[in-house]
Amino acid sequence: MTDGLRSAAIGILKANDRGGYTVPTKGLYPFQWNWDSCLTALGQRHFDADRALSEIETLFAHQWPCGMAPHIIFHELDDGYFPGPEVWACGRPTPTSGITQPPVAGFALKRLLDGAPALRDRARPLLARITAWHDWFHATRDPQGSGLVAIIHPWESGRDNSVDWDIPFQRVPTEGIAPYLRRDTQHADPAHRPTKEQYDRYIWLIERFRSLDWRTDKLHDASPFRVIDPSLNAILIRSCLDLADLAEAMGETEIARQNRALAQKGLAALPALWSEAHGQYLSLDRMTGQLIDSRSSGGLLAAFAPIPVEHAARIAATIDAHATRFRVASHAPDTPGFDAKRYWRGPVWLVVNYMIADGLSRAGQTKAATQIIRSSLELIRDSGFAEYYDPATGEALGGTQFTWTAAMVLEFLALEGAA
Ligand code: GLC
Repeated sequence: MTDGLRSAAIGILKANDRGGYTVPTKGLYPFQWNWDSCLTALGQRHFDADRALSEIETLFAHQWPCGMAPHIIFHELDDGYFPGPEVWACGRPTPTSGITQPPVAGFALKRLLDGAPALRDRARPLLARITAWHDWFHATRDPQGSGLVAIIHPWESGRDNSVDWDIPFQRVPTEGIAPYLRRDTQHADPAHRPTKEQYDRYIWLIERFRSLDWRTDKLHDASPFRVIDPSLNAILIRSCLDLADLAEAMGETEIARQNRALAQKGLAALPALWSEAHGQYLSLDRMTGQLIDSRSSGGLLAAFAPIPVEHAARIAATIDAHATRFRVASHAPDTPGFDAKRYWRGPVWLVVNYMIADGLSRAGQTKAATQIIRSSLELIRDSGFAEYYDPATGEALGGTQFTWTAAMVLEFLALEGAA
């Protein structure tokens, strides 16, 4: 069975491979996505470490001069996706989107090279590139130097329609946008995708940023949506620390020092997002200075950073309290806004499971981590390699033959084997 799963996962990664990059799935997502690629490399390393490194190299070949690694790279024309390159109009040699995604590259690169040290020399240029991205986050998304960086579009969190964004998103207008035709709802059940009103706001923000010529140093203050996401900040902290360790081992002491300094800023500020009442971290609306009372998996994923051990223990208990058959629901099931089938408002996502399990295991919460890994593999055995899953029934939802789901299965199988 394990062998069957392993070869099925490898089959998906190969089928979605387009040369130097991998598409998340055919049809629904026909380009390269930022954090998908970095996590995909972790799957590829189990059968082709060279190819895994190319995945990250290709992503950074399209980094912007300001340091931002864009969230989508439109390597080939494909009109099956909206908003395509003509909507973004970022003026890059190869078209890209103009926003970013959770910076998981530093973490992924370290994990990849830990298992493939022979690739270190080839990977050396990536250390400076990833550091430039980390710097860019702090410079442009934390202009006041609070230690925590903001997202300016929900897509930057990677958790597009999370309940976390509902209140701050109300501030984004829906009027005045150019007429458009969604393509996602032609590939997946509209009841399992974001709503039209949310799409209008997604597009309004893109049009706003485009009107500022994608000057990334101007966009934070120009956006009516500025939110501190605990998961993106935890990923940034973890990537800074991992990249620092890697750089040190490779004799790049200045890069190590820079990344450690950035991680320290984040770690010092992160406790402000902790909710003792909810036993997890929360998002913060930078426009009002208020924590957002929404219990999503973003606040659990904070465990990916080295948070205090007592917080990690509470997070493990909070996940238990969800009491869903499958772990980890992307939103607490007994709270407003939960929807078992709608994208980031309830369903289980394997990439989030992977990062939560990794963090909890490092914090000594071995039982909780093992439960997440077991639950993830059970889902795949029952329902196949979907984009996301109903946490109660395990029903497969969204896209099928999904790349990062397959990649995470290879990681989970290796962890299960090691245990
Ligand atoms: C969706 C997800 C995002 C992911 C992308 C490609 O937009 O919300 O996290 O990167 O699909 O899989």
